[in-house]
Amino acid sequence: MDVLRIKGGLPLEGRVKAAGAKNSITKLLVASLLSEKKCIFYNVPRIAEVEVTVDLCREIGAEIHWDKEAGIIETQTKELRTSYVPQRFSGSNRIPILMIGALLGRTQEDIIVPTVGGCKIGQRPIDFHIAALEKLGAVIEYRMMKKEGAYFAHAHNGLSGAIIHLPFPSVGATENTILAAARAKGTTVIKNAATEPEIIDLILFLQKMGVIIFVDVDRTIRIQETHHFNEVEHTVITDRIVSASLGMAAISTKGRVFVEGAQHLHMITFLNKLHEIGAGFEVRDNGIEFFYKGPLKGGLHIETDVHPGFMTDWQQPFVVLLTQAYGNSVIHETVYENRFGYAHALKLMGADVELFTQCLGGKECRFASRNFHHSLIVRGPTPLKGREIAIPDLRAGFAYVMAALLAPETSTIGGLQFLDRGYENIVGKLASLGADIVRDRADAHSPSLAIASAS
Ligand code: UD1
Repeated sequence: MDVLRIKGGLPLEGRVKAAGAKNSITKLLVASLLSEKKCIFYNVPRIAEVEVTVDLCREIGAEIHWDKEAGIIETQTKELRTSYVPQRFSGSNRIPILMIGALLGRTQEDIIVPTVGGCKIGQRPIDFHIAALEKLGAVIEYRMMKKEGAYFAHAHNGLSGAIIHLPFPSVGATENTILAAARAKGTTVIKNAATEPEIIDLILFLQKMGVIIFVDVDRTIRIQETHHFNEVEHTVITDRIVSASLGMAAISTKGRVFVEGAQHLHMITFLNKLHEIGAGFEVRDNGIEFFYKGPLKGGLHIETDVHPGFMTDWQQPFVVLLTQAYGNSVIHETVYENRFGYAHALKLMGADVELFTQCLGGKECRFASRNFHHSLIVRGPTPLKGREIAIPDLRAGFAYVMAALLAPETSTIGGLQFLDRGYENIVGKLASLGADIVRDRADAHSPSLAIASAS
């Protein structure tokens, strides 16, 4: 098992490039399956999540050439080889379920998708996906196979446009519905749709592909039936989670880092929160510089929310940042019911954090009175100390790395498969900024480095 060994206490200084967005390229690759035409993607990150998605698309019939050095993927799916997603993709990530939306209009065969995975940050059901696709005319059943269950989907009578009202602006359900709608008869209207930058990136790609798609007021997306698809070249948006994470690491270590490619438009709410705690940033044409400019102020209230709110994937490193701020701050997680799984290890590292089941802050969320630990108070500043820790999920992973960068002793971090899914060359990038960080084999089996749950 590989581990990271980090000896903290050094300020991060320099310049680093943020990679393309994981949550965008993975969906774009699936969207490319809608047509038989060639698609070329630029700014593709070298991360495990893209490896898995490329593997998945190849399985379905895509011919893919990935120039990893240049960050370019060329893909073309002249015909489908199968519509059966093998069991080895079961639980791998959130992508296989999108195969239903992408393939329904392209095959009369059953589309078979094993159990959906992703980080264990809540129950993460897919009921909104299923209900929306059924409304478009899909027939979807969950059946037991040899070892575990799989979704069987088909649209033998074709798909027809419909008005779909999502109960919550789910990113995945919006994407799945858009993909299916592109080949459904007539017009589909998605109300209460997610409008995250990664969804807009998907919409821009589809528009280039020839899909007539509108983003209307009030979270409404309209998609028209499409018959002719074009070849497309598309540059993937920069990862706003990675950009923010690198920025927070710079500020918390009292350093200064220019994050090349960080996109201002996608980080407005995040930058406002940095401003509130007295952290420094300067927006330039080609990126954002983040820097420490004096003691950080706590007393902050963050409520995570759908875009344009404060992104749920920003809260974990932000909590680490707040351990270094003077005063108490409150975080209310309203997107996932179980996204504070990392708090226990942070406490062991010396953070003063406390979890609550109540909605702390202005509004009652979907998780009120449901006994989920979805609010957190962090009191600072507190020095952090090095520990052996195992990463429980992707975004918690970077929070641990950040905590280790603050602790003067050496920390050993296991569970790197989570980090590898979403952060390109994290060791090289942090080392280039002056961090004392190496990737190494674990010395011996250590229970504190064992992973409780796989993705
Ligand atoms: C995506 C992102 C993830 C991000 C999240 C919210 C990817 C691969 N992952 O996840 O990084 O944190 O958006 O911005 O793009 N829900 C249901 N039923 C459903 C679908 C969702 O109850 O059918 C619930 C979820 O349990 C969760 C909430 O809706 O509480 C939001 O989920 P969703 O927006 O769908 O997140 P993902 O697309 O899985």
